Amino acid sequence: MSRLTDLIANAKAKDSQLGADLEREFRALSSRLSFGLNFERHKPEAVELPQRPVRRGDKVRVLPPRGSTTKGDRRLWQVKKIVKGGGKKRAELECLDTPAEQSTAQIDDLVVVAEFRDTIYPGLAATGKVSRGGDKPWHTVINGENYHVLKALTWTHRGKVDVIYIDPPYNTRDKDWKYNNDYVNADDLYRHSKWLAMMERRLVLAKELLNPADSVLIVTIDEKEYLRLGLLLEQMFPEARIQMVTSVINHSGVARDKEFYRADEYLFFVFFGDAAVTPIGEDMLNSPESMEGKRIDIWNRLLRRGTDAQREDSEKQFYPFWVDPKRKCIHSVGDYIPLGVSPNTVQPPAPNLVACWPIRSNESEGRWQISAATARKGLKEGTVRLGAYSRKRKRWSISYLRNAEKERIDRGEIEIVGKDENGVLILKQSDTVARIKNPVSVWNQRSHNAGAGGSNVIRALLPGRKFPFPKSVYAVEDALRFFVKENPEALVLDFFSGSGTTAHSVMRLNKQDGGRRQCICVTNNEVSADEQKALREQGLRPGDPDWEQWGICDYITKPRVQAAITGKTANGDPIRGDYKFTDEFPMAEGLLENAEFFTLTYETPVAVNYQTAFNRIASLLWLRAGSVGRRIDKLPKTGWEVVDSYGLLVELDRATDFLKAARKAKKLGIAYIVTDDERRFQAIARRLPEGVEAIRLYESYLKNFAFANGDDA
Ligand SMILES: C[S@@+](CC[C@H](N)C(=O)[O-])C[C@H]1O[C@@H](n2cnc3c(N)ncnc32)[C@H](O)[C@@H]1O
Repeated sequence: MSRLTDLIANAKAKDSQLGADLEREFRALSSRLSFGLNFERHKPEAVELPQRPVRRGDKVRVLPPRGSTTKGDRRLWQVKKIVKGGGKKRAELECLDTPAEQSTAQIDDLVVVAEFRDTIYPGLAATGKVSRGGDKPWHTVINGENYHVLKALTWTHRGKVDVIYIDPPYNTRDKDWKYNNDYVNADDLYRHSKWLAMMERRLVLAKELLNPADSVLIVTIDEKEYLRLGLLLEQMFPEARIQMVTSVINHSGVARDKEFYRADEYLFFVFFGDAAVTPIGEDMLNSPESMEGKRIDIWNRLLRRGTDAQREDSEKQFYPFWVDPKRKCIHSVGDYIPLGVSPNTVQPPAPNLVACWPIRSNESEGRWQISAATARKGLKEGTVRLGAYSRKRKRWSISYLRNAEKERIDRGEIEIVGKDENGVLILKQSDTVARIKNPVSVWNQRSHNAGAGGSNVIRALLPGRKFPFPKSVYAVEDALRFFVKENPEALVLDFFSGSGTTAHSVMRLNKQDGGRRQCICVTNNEVSADEQKALREQGLRPGDPDWEQWGICDYITKPRVQAAITGKTANGDPIRGDYKFTDEFPMAEGLLENAEFFTLTYETPVAVNYQTAFNRIASLLWLRAGSVGRRIDKLPKTGWEVVDSYGLLVELDRATDFLKAARKAKKLGIAYIVTDDERRFQAIARRLPEGVEAIRLYESYLKNFAFANGDDA
């Protein structure tokens, strides 16, 4: 590079402007990674907001005339003035792409545009709900541009999501996805670059939502982008463990001219923190018969993962195992020590012993799954044993047999062969009964076929309606089960949710074990490229009700989730057919769950400021409190209100009444306190019941819900 630097210096001497320009380009190039994935990040994305009224100052595009199928003027304009004349409103415009160019246009021929670098003020307008789940948390389906929805979720769900499952556009065919509001052609030289830029922007936000201590990102993909996606994930998440699973989704294969027919696709699993696969009984590859007589490991880790896994969540489950490192066995189990007492103050019962405390991989204090008394009992009967020693972490792990395995022993499914020299049970799986197997990285499950488990399920739920390439509901269910099986309260997010398969899977998982897992589904209301052309020819435009009704979210996602819960098709008829998986039951039974539907809105600063948009912001407060129970939809006249999971105090003079109600509420999680005065906020926060999180909202709502752009978008 020094040769280039010399040349630039020479150029600068001859022509300072040219030299400066060259230097800037050179710096941009040299700042990029020399190895790995290089792609163009400088294509700004923008979203058109056809339902947003045009106001002065807005960024807009001028639409092609109704009936036209051309792209029209793609330039951005700013509305300088709105004038009335002849009963119609016209806008005076200044071009942002070609400075100094001015124009005028009918307001009806303009569409507001939000560029990703703009500050937005998101809100959520409720558009319907279905409830059969009693006091269970609500699943949410959000119609919107996922980049902006993810931004809004950074306020409601930062670090709270357990699993993200996404099935993004695969970039396989001509016009099968949109970049910057425009379908990408197969011959676009930048199609891979655009795809990567689109994915990267969203994954940066997704990372902020995942629980860093224990969560998983699952991304499905096929052979067109899997290499680039793998590298992108490696580059973006160096701290995570990444695995790729190959999954058969079409046993006869999709035709590939002169190539192997394609039968599979891929799932990238990105493991953060302590995230680990929980065996579910199947290895996902071999048929149960072929596994007869094989040995399996049914010992589980004693260190608790997932929710409530901190020392303070269960003080009594923080105690030491005293390990004899020479003999590689557990000598004894110590007593728990109260919160606040450091483990370093505890002396070993004998000098040769070392302590093994429940310390998590992020070095925070965790807890064991069972009490010290149960552990002692287990040690005696041989159902608690010493696991491996981690050189990196410099500590031992402990494993144990859960009650489920003990029951299998009692039932004779697992045979006790004897005890080892440390008194630990040696087990053998009975030859005649099914055994738990460790899942492998190649999956071959008939139930994962996209036709039977995807399209056919949608056909049953929404007769006559089609969605291209839904996932098999059972395939999504399996992928999730490995991570949520032992977390009945897990929060799952899918921000490319298409027909809503992920929400359907989460609801089915809940039915299987009585869980209260929750799913947030985000999708836009796109119509396919072909449909779009036909609608334009009819003189329709995005934003027209006759156009929007055909969009994915309104036509498929919401009615599908509704049908899955009610057991009735969109026409109100009982759904015909049965679920055919680990559980078989008529789809017409429905699922005992709650779901609410929202559309992302872009509030104007004025509306947010003067609280007129409160009912749309209200949904964000409710979401942050866990989307459970009632919602405060209007600013309370009394100056405060407390509902099931949260409270809102607007007039601080009413703090005493508010606190009284807060103390009475049994499941209160959050108290929102509206004030600019930090001192008064702290004073009220201190008087809240233990465990209630106090969140300050500025009096100017604008400040709380302004999402500026921090990246290159
Ligand atoms: C491959 S499909 C997902 C299918 C889904 N797994 C299923 O089983 O139905 C991807 C979906 O993401 C949606 N989508 C694409 N780009 C989006 C964006 N920027 N914001 C929101 N949704 C988007 C598309 O409308 C499409 O429905």
